[in-house]
Amino acid sequence: MAEHYSYTAQPRLQQQEYCDLRDYLQKASGIVLGEGKEYLVSSRLGKLLREHRLDSFAELVRELNSGRNPRLRTLVVDAMTTNETFWFRDMAHFQLLTEVIMPERAAEPGAFRVWSAACSSGQEPYSLSMVMDDFRKKNIGYRRSVEITATDLSEQMLADAAKGLYCGMATVRGITPEQRKRYFVPRGDCFEVNPDLRRVISFRKQNLMDSFAGLGRFDVIFCRNVLIYFSAATKADVIARMAQSLKPRGYLLLGSTESLSDSQGNFEMVTGHGGIVYRRKT
Ligand SMILES: C[S@@+](CC[C@H](N)C(=O)[O-])C[C@H]1O[C@@H](n2cnc3c(N)ncnc32)[C@H](O)[C@@H]1O
Repeated sequence: MAEHYSYTAQPRLQQQEYCDLRDYLQKASGIVLGEGKEYLVSSRLGKLLREHRLDSFAELVRELNSGRNPRLRTLVVDAMTTNETFWFRDMAHFQLLTEVIMPERAAEPGAFRVWSAACSSGQEPYSLSMVMDDFRKKNIGYRRSVEITATDLSEQMLADAAKGLYCGMATVRGITPEQRKRYFVPRGDCFEVNPDLRRVISFRKQNLMDSFAGLGRFDVIFCRNVLIYFSAATKADVIARMAQSLKPRGYLLLGSTESLSDSQGNFEMVTGHGGIVYRRKT
């Protein structure tokens, strides 16, 4: 018997719908969509329309603004985030951490606390755990324990990250076979991060637009490759609040192509190994 397929074309994204979705996204996440990003919204959110049986993008906007469907709100923001990441991204930062920052802060009290502030699928916090563990094994007298707080806005990314299981391209980008052997346990065709390296990391949801008050204060904040999606004003605000979340003379690290907006003069620049990091002045 012949099979019948019904195909419903995706509704076209109208200019007003694009503007409404762009405004919603900026308010919910700080992410600014520039000119000409209609195709991105249409392709990433079109799938959600079908899955939620919504007839148009206007209906999606109405659902979002009604507040009736918190799950849909989360899914829209998740769909619009860019999650590109890989192991030991910007190696200079990891070298500065273990060769400058950890030794400099060796005598500080309490655990050495690091915040990976937009951790995506987890490569950044796990890379931190790996280099910090190596450092502690090489420096047996180092008395500070390590705590890593890894946060992201995307619930999907946090769920993936917390599993610590990597397959396909994610097992090769930025990592050598020797490192894979040292830091992972094979699981079929995939690799799971060694449990000892996972234990020091706690994952939790944190929107950078919201207060950081519940997180405590950190020796180091990695906030890399996320502020590029924000407006200049939001970026400056996040950086000013991060300064308050650092312990005295703690460090802030941004992505290698990002610059610091520091109108309050909270930070001084420290360079080394071809990288730049920022130290809180007081
Ligand atoms: C390009 S990834 C960067 C990952 C990692 N830091 C790195 O440099 O490889 C950007 C991450 O920022 C997250 N993000 C976007 N807006 C955010 C917000 N308002 N609060 C927290 N995380 C956000 C996204 O979900 C995404 O996982």
